[in-house]
Amino acid sequence: MKFHTYEQLAEGCRIGWRNHARCIGRLHWQSLKVLDRRDARTAEEIAQGCVDHLRLATDGGRIRSVMTVFPARRGLRIWNSQLIRYAGYRQPDGSVVGDPANAELTEVAQALGWRGRGGRFDVLPLVIQVPGRSPELFDLPEDAVLEVPISHPDLPWFADLGLRWHAVPAISNMAFELDGVIFPAAPFNGWYVSFEIGARNFSDENRYNQLPEVAQRMGLDTRTSGSLWKDRALIELNQAVIHSFKQAGVKLVDHHVAARQFVTHEERERRQGRVAPADWAWVVPPISGSTAPTFHRSYSAEPVLSPNFHYQPDPWTQPQPARCPFADAA
Ligand code: ARG
Repeated sequence: MKFHTYEQLAEGCRIGWRNHARCIGRLHWQSLKVLDRRDARTAEEIAQGCVDHLRLATDGGRIRSVMTVFPARRGLRIWNSQLIRYAGYRQPDGSVVGDPANAELTEVAQALGWRGRGGRFDVLPLVIQVPGRSPELFDLPEDAVLEVPISHPDLPWFADLGLRWHAVPAISNMAFELDGVIFPAAPFNGWYVSFEIGARNFSDENRYNQLPEVAQRMGLDTRTSGSLWKDRALIELNQAVIHSFKQAGVKLVDHHVAARQFVTHEERERRQGRVAPADWAWVVPPISGSTAPTFHRSYSAEPVLSPNFHYQPDPWTQPQPARCPFADAA
């Protein structure tokens, strides 16, 4: 197996970002900061690397793009899909308090002994597995998790919804591949685009599902789709996210800026003699699509270039060592 120098590794990470067809933020690929933690061995050391990552990435709200590379060892996994995830507590009636996207991870953490407070925005512990061992839990220190309370510039009742979101989106369940070497734990982050929070996390029916509540408080007619209550609620939710991050001094871009920057990236790449592989559905914003320049262009996600980032199966669906609370899951 090839062992990369720091320079080779760092450049590989940047090019991996540039190669990834589903990222709209690739204009900034050259600014990625790479932390080399290939020396980490124990789950404690991996957890500490994750905390260091969040502190550097958060930077008081300025948000730096950071990637931390842990050893290329099969079986090493961060079970959390992002370093910061809100618990989703499944209720007896099937509903979920918190983020339904993390209901399984929450059950995993509980089976390992974690006791959540039962709130809508409880930060889950890191669940880290080193090869041949059961996963272990690590609470994130409070100062490593910057959060933004959500309010609206002109709808005073918005703050009463009690919404909040974390400042740093740090994906931690994808594998990074460089020169045939697979790094199964290599978390990376950028900054948020407002729609990720406003038009997906808060709005999707299988996430926080806030559109009915927002529309009702706005006094819209939710009995007929033609009142465009969903659309109007979506816009106010996105406005609230943009306003709140700005007020908190936390970097975030709106969908117009993000799409424009992506087109700038494409043009820059063309001048370098490269094409930017892109997945149309991922570079067109989920709201007001046709106002974005990317909507009017066609893209090809192929070829899948290397280095790159790849999905991998959720660890709790994989065979586990005996003694592990999930040994039967497989
Ligand atoms: N969409 C994900 C979320 O809402 C984050 C994905 C990465 N986003 C980013 N801006 N780097 O948490």
